Amino acid sequence: MLNLGIIGFGGMASSHVKDLENYERLHVKGVFDVDAKRCAVAQEKGLKAYASQEALFSDPSIDIILVATTNEVHKELSIEAMKAGKHVICEKPVTLNSQELLEIMEASKKYGKVFTINQNRRTNKDFVLMKRNVEQGLLGDVYVIESRVEGSRGMPTGWRTIKALGGGMMLDWGVHLIDQLMYMMDEKVVSVYCKMYHIQYDEVDDNFRLIMTFESGVTAHVEVSTNNYITHPRWYVLGKQGTLQIDDWDCDGKIVRCIDTENIWEDEIVYTKAGPTKVMAPRNANSTETLVLSEPLDVVDDLTVVYDGLIDAIEGKAALKITPEQAMRVMKVMEAAFVSHESNSVLNVNI
Ligand SMILES: NC(=O)c1ccc[n+]([C@@H]2O[C@H](COP(=O)([O-])OP(=O)(O)OC[C@H]3O[C@@H](n4cnc5c(N)ncnc54)[C@H](O)[C@@H]3O)[C@@H](O)[C@H]2O)c1
Repeated sequence: MLNLGIIGFGGMASSHVKDLENYERLHVKGVFDVDAKRCAVAQEKGLKAYASQEALFSDPSIDIILVATTNEVHKELSIEAMKAGKHVICEKPVTLNSQELLEIMEASKKYGKVFTINQNRRTNKDFVLMKRNVEQGLLGDVYVIESRVEGSRGMPTGWRTIKALGGGMMLDWGVHLIDQLMYMMDEKVVSVYCKMYHIQYDEVDDNFRLIMTFESGVTAHVEVSTNNYITHPRWYVLGKQGTLQIDDWDCDGKIVRCIDTENIWEDEIVYTKAGPTKVMAPRNANSTETLVLSEPLDVVDDLTVVYDGLIDAIEGKAALKITPEQAMRVMKVMEAAFVSHESNSVLNVNI
């Protein structure tokens, strides 16, 4: 069994500890946090609290370091940990920009250590449900994927509202939604347009709307909002033969598919409450079928999946699943999104 040491013992680090409680491949040994109160919380949970970063990184019994601090120190701490001979799992967003990630990638090569990123939302059940149905061809050729995460409570105070600490919703949630789409699509992104909003905070984006176009022409609409009192569905996907909607993280949803091959139009115009129309006339109910979607119970969605990928790579059993190269592409899309917003233009990219 390998030993894990944690630097930065806040909310997310506690979530790692919880998921690793009964995990047989890794033992959580101890933590270091610059905040003494957080070290005390770790001790209450039966973990060792190291006196300093150096004390944690120089413990020879520790094999892997989890970097779960605020984002502005991810680069520095990841490199220091690898220099000290540890493999590293770093929380998302991996860094503040692509240059910082490049430095981590160079350090990983130089010190011969495995570096992965906690892009844990690839196993979220709503995402897996959408991906499976699209890949089974139930919608025909897909041309639009809309992915949204929306809250109405604004952003929590603290580092998420401070630019220099890596705040803002693009780096916080955008990184997950973009990673899911790039993991699924296996295609280059060729254009990016983004509009960001500052509803509550001037310093960071607290809402954004992003359109990414993939090489095949598929467009992804990605939206993260913090003040939507009425929400859209989590997923809305258009294919040539059908439409998929998944309402929420509970995975309630449906696919409506066209089974009318002849598609015969009435000659007469149809009168609706909004006036006469032919194009928008309601469909005959018998011309579609509805498939009800529900939570995929076979999917394991906890952090042990990410750790399995890391430990398999460390032990040489399999190639690393969440790679710095993948994180680099996501980072470049986010960087393009900021430039697009600032210049109010569509950027042609090759990512
Ligand atoms: N993967 C996910 O689903 C997910 C969810 C939430 C947060 N996160 C990520 O986890 C990280 C932490 O977020 P959080 O919500 O736990 O924040 P948090 O504020 O609760 O915790 C951060 C902790 O890091 C400590 N810290 C800061 N600089 C340090 C340093 N140099 N050395 C040691 N400790 C230091 C702080 O004192 C604090 O206790 C962020 O990168 C965030 O984006 C990921």
